[in-house]
Amino acid sequence: MNPLNHVAIIMDGNGRWGLKYKNSRKAGHKEGINTVEKIIKETIKNKIQYLTLFAFSTENWKRPNKEINYLFNLLETFLEKKIDDFHREEIKLKIIGTKKFSKKLNKLLNNAEKKTCNNKKLQINLALNYGSKSEILNSLKKMNKKRESVNEKNLIKYLYTKDIPDPDLLIRTGNTKRLSNFLLWQLAYSEIFFENKLWPAFNEYDYNKIIKRYKKVKRNFGNV
Ligand code: FPP
Repeated sequence: MNPLNHVAIIMDGNGRWGLKYKNSRKAGHKEGINTVEKIIKETIKNKIQYLTLFAFSTENWKRPNKEINYLFNLLETFLEKKIDDFHREEIKLKIIGTKKFSKKLNKLLNNAEKKTCNNKKLQINLALNYGSKSEILNSLKKMNKKRESVNEKNLIKYLYTKDIPDPDLLIRTGNTKRLSNFLLWQLAYSEIFFENKLWPAFNEYDYNKIIKRYKKVKRNFGNV
């Protein structure tokens, strides 16, 4: 049975779910939060150490302003409501990506990270304004500036994920098979499961089914 320390998730399909069932993309994002909560609980039950959630990509700025504002308002409310619970449940929150949001959201994110930084039960890495290509380029630029030799060890040192083991498992919901500029370096040897269900419809049962299948995969990391 494969150990499972780190699950990464591309939570795709909110907009489509919302349009299909509530005639509004926003309603899909709102419902998506409930799935986030369910999956966090189940991650703890499964004693998984790291959960990385792709919440907003550098490319998502192309969306209409109204949708972007709605998403960030949801995130603010979520943090205001949940951060004490997270802390009580010994969850550490870390943001990966560049924090360039409103003053209010930046402050909430910084406070949440600070408050939970010593928690050990589960680390949630929330990818916000995250893009993998720019993360890697930024690393290369730093090595270059410091005249360091270009090798894996030095490159990894400048990634947002520098102290986090690579994901063992990537799940993408929403019936789409692509990586969308997410953790391109870190996913080199991850097992990838594409799920047809849209994120708001994804549940604990689906999650556990994937975990069970993952545990039985023969992982050989290039070996035989
Ligand atoms: C993808 O669905 C989802 C997003 C871009 C945002 C994910 C955000 C949430 C689940 C809510 C906020 C998160 C947290 C952690 C509080 P999409 O809009 O691309 O769906 P589509 O492919 O159907 O258009």
